[in-house]
Amino acid sequence: MAAEMVRVKNTGLRGVTVADTKISYIDGENGVLIYRGYRIEELAERSTFLETVFLLLNGHLPKEVELARFEAQVLEARELPGFILESMEKFPKRTDPMDVLQASVPMLAMADPDLADDSREANVRKAVRLIARIPAAVAAWHRIRNGEKPLAPDSALSHAANFLWQLTGQKPTAEVARDFDLCLVLHADHTFNASTFACREVVSTNAHIYAGVAAGVGALSGSLHGGANERVMKMILQLETELPSVEDVAPWVKKMIDGGGIIMGMGHAVYKTFDPRGKILKEMSRRLTQKAGHPKWYEYLVRIEQEGIKEFTARGKTGISTNVDFYSGSVYASMGIPVDIMTPVFAISRISGWCAHIIEEKFAEAQDKPALYRPEAEYVGNYCGEMGCVYQPMSARG
Ligand SMILES: CC(C)(COP(=O)(O)OP(=O)(O)OC[C@H]1O[C@@H](n2cnc3c(N)ncnc32)[C@H](O)[C@@H]1OP(=O)(O)O)[C@@H](O)C(=O)NCCC(=O)NCCS
Repeated sequence: MAAEMVRVKNTGLRGVTVADTKISYIDGENGVLIYRGYRIEELAERSTFLETVFLLLNGHLPKEVELARFEAQVLEARELPGFILESMEKFPKRTDPMDVLQASVPMLAMADPDLADDSREANVRKAVRLIARIPAAVAAWHRIRNGEKPLAPDSALSHAANFLWQLTGQKPTAEVARDFDLCLVLHADHTFNASTFACREVVSTNAHIYAGVAAGVGALSGSLHGGANERVMKMILQLETELPSVEDVAPWVKKMIDGGGIIMGMGHAVYKTFDPRGKILKEMSRRLTQKAGHPKWYEYLVRIEQEGIKEFTARGKTGISTNVDFYSGSVYASMGIPVDIMTPVFAISRISGWCAHIIEEKFAEAQDKPALYRPEAEYVGNYCGEMGCVYQPMSARG
């Protein structure tokens, strides 16, 4: 029997449940985010990124020996295939890091010995390679575009610390490495967000994991999704030069909202009170901007948050508060991460959620999911009756 038509036009599928998932859960009214049953605050305080990745991929926290094996597998897979580095050398140096990252994903597929094997075990091995190599690709491009040689991974460094080393050429302090690792935990998964849905939609056709991930990277690059953190940081850097006093923020916010502008890093499709990740990042931003000698970044952000909420509420737009991208830019900038590497950093973490969702999609690990996503659209284009429009030869076209 044909499925009953449900019209949800102009909603961007908000509020429409398209599948079951066991991976993560959001309660947008109460600011709750859960990965595989664990509250994000609990994982932020007690877990590490790779342990969280194991949890997302396998559904349970690892035993000591499982975690050690998993960390060793990721460490072993860090090296990028040489032909990818050689290709990057030929890319135009101005290419956006997200475009290079998206281009790298099918190249990683070419190098994967398991590509033709679509078993669950092979997909987990592919996920491990992706999780290990996406950071290496981001770091390598950053160095190549600056005329520097990519750095070899350092096996003595953790996943988070090694990325910062390969990116900047400097070994981070234990504190910075721990903070960065925590940022990765916070961004690892977020239910059916735009990029994850893109990944799942693509692999629902039986396409391989790399095809799904390439779609996810593309979706994440947009300013309404992962690109927002860069835009927030650019906004702060601009305000720093244009508004010498933090007191000038209030009229700036009012003018912006009156003019129909978007305050990047505020508002969320699901969270309608607060984003629990934002709370943790706010505190980190306060601490790190001060240490980095840029306390003003934090002051601007806090003031924009306060004034933004005030102005939105005055216009009857309640429930708009800061999201994960609002404070993360200042955190990354304080760690020396360049602005246009901030969205790729999001990808370095979210690759874990994408892979978990792709595996769930491929192996129907949650009970209910469609075989293939295939929504309808209402045709509102040209219509010339049942027989269709008459094809005019070129000479007869007006
Ligand atoms: C994320 C986003 C697309 C969600 O949009 P949404 O689901 O339509 O959000 P809401 O339904 O709560 O929006 C209610 C109203 O507030 C407006 N609004 C929401 N966030 C806003 C923002 N950051 N700046 C200005 N206006 C905003 C919407 O345009 C809408 O206005 P309207 O009723 O006049 O059409 C939106 O909040 C946004 O563009 N934020 C900035 C980009 C960003 O930070 N993205 C990262 C998300 S993690």
